[in-house]
Amino acid sequence: MPKIKYDSSGEEVEVENGTELRDVCQKQSWDVPFGCEDGVCGTCIVKINSGEENLTPMEEKEKTTLEAMGLNDGKHRLACQCKVSGGDISFETN
Ligand code: FES
Repeated sequence: MPKIKYDSSGEEVEVENGTELRDVCQKQSWDVPFGCEDGVCGTCIVKINSGEENLTPMEEKEKTTLEAMGLNDGKHRLACQCKVSGGDISFETN
């Protein structure tokens, strides 16, 4: 199972493929804030430190929000808009 590491605290957990990053954060009580949970507000932005290829591809809404924030750089994702897909990930809050 893929390992998800929250670099901001050093904690790590194994999850099923297809798990939403939001669900991991909320279940682990990691300090990632959420607002709309719909890819619009940008509150849940995180910086992916490794394994960005192991998250589901970005859809239009997430792209638009990240562009508006000036952070559509391939390293930032919205935790409410991506799922774990095939391998390990490490990330931190922005
Ligand atoms: S909580 Fe609003 S974009 Fe994720």
